[in-house]
Order: sequence, then structure tokens, then C-alpha cells
Amino acid sequence: MDLFEVIAKRHSYRGPFADTPVPREDLRRIVQAGIQAPSAVNGQVAQFVIVDDPKLLAEIAKIVDRPACNTAPAIIVCFTDNREVYKGIAFPVEDCAASVENVLLAVTALGYASVWLDGVLRVNDVAGQIGRLLGVPEAFTVRILLPLGAATTPGKQKKRLPFEKRAWFNRYGG
Ligand SMILES: Cc1cc2nc3c(=O)[nH]c(=O)nc-3n(C[C@H](O)[C@H](O)[C@H](O)COP(=O)(O)O)c2cc1C
Repeated sequence: MDLFEVIAKRHSYRGPFADTPVPREDLRRIVQAGIQAPSAVNGQVAQFVIVDDPKLLAEIAKIVDRPACNTAPAIIVCFTDNREVYKGIAFPVEDCAASVENVLLAVTALGYASVWLDGVLRVNDVAGQIGRLLGVPEAFTVRILLPLGAATTPGKQKKRLPFEKRAWFNRYGG
């Protein structure tokens, strides 16, 4: 698959995953794609814990009770060191998002499926609970969970607004 095919094929998958493990070699390749992402001042503040231990996966599923988390053979947990990297400014959200998009594209390229889980982490200290479970330093922020594996049902691409409604050459509105 070329890059543009991968971009077109990627979609959020929230259903149950097949009961087949994702080999560590694939997990490493997927997360390496996230590590390759650009970051502000090359600060590289986005980091990952790749969970494939069934006991830990079950603990996460207790905290985030979603079909994808209950069945995923692996979950990539993305968190950030929120230190300032440029003139007193920190860019953890931007760095994390850039990495996660690369990860999702790599997931798709290798034939797996995933979903960006974010909102669910922001209530009831869910992000903190996951961070403590995985030994993430207290000062860091757990931002995104990516349950992944082989999908059991076909994916569906959501529609996008046409180019003309979202992008213009030279001047807003064309
Ligand atoms: C910042 C951000 C937060 C998101 N949070 C969630 C979430 O908490 N739960 C969820 O199911 N999907 C979440 N998503 C996935 C979006 O719902 C999804 O990308 C969007 O509906 C477009 O669908 P697609 O990914 O299939 O193209 C999030 C995506 C982004 C970029």
C-alpha cells in the first residue's frame, strides 16, 4: 500500500478484536513510526508504553470499559513530558498528536485497526489511573490510548467535507 492508500484506508475501529496477538516486531515498527514524527524543537516529548501483557490489558479494560479495550491484544499508551522546549512554551499536545497519527497510519499499513481514545481519559482521573498502573511519572500526562489488533468486522470510512469547504489557495474562501 502506498502512503495515500494508507491515509484513505485508515479509520477508527471500535469493535471487538480477533483473539490473535500482535507480534512484538509489528508493535515495534508501529511505535517507531510514532517516534519518527516531527516534534517542536525536536524535543521528542511524546513517549509510549506498549502493553501486551494480558494481566495489564485486563487491568486497563477494567478502567476503560469499551469493546475495543476489552478485546485488544495490545494497547499503546501515549503520554507526554510537558516540559517547555522553546521560549518557555511547551508543545506536548501537538507532539503527541503528530506521533499518534503516524502510529495510526503504521497500524493501517500493517493490516491492523485501532481507534484514538482520548475523551474517556479526561474524566474521573482515568488518565491518572492508567499512568499509575504503568509506572508513568506523576508529572507526565497520559493523553491517548490506542487499542489495536486485527478487526473482526469490516471498517467504514467516514465522509469528509469536500476540499473546497476546507482548503483554499492563497486566500480564505477562494
Ligand atoms: C483529538 C481526538 C480525540 C478523539 N477522541 C476519541 C474518543 O475519545 N473516543 C473515540 O471513540 N474516538 C475518538 N477519536 C476518533 C474520532 O472520533 C474519529 O477520528 C472521527 O470521528 C473521524 O473518524 P475516522 O477516524 O474513522 O476517520 C478522537 C480523535 C481525535 C483526533
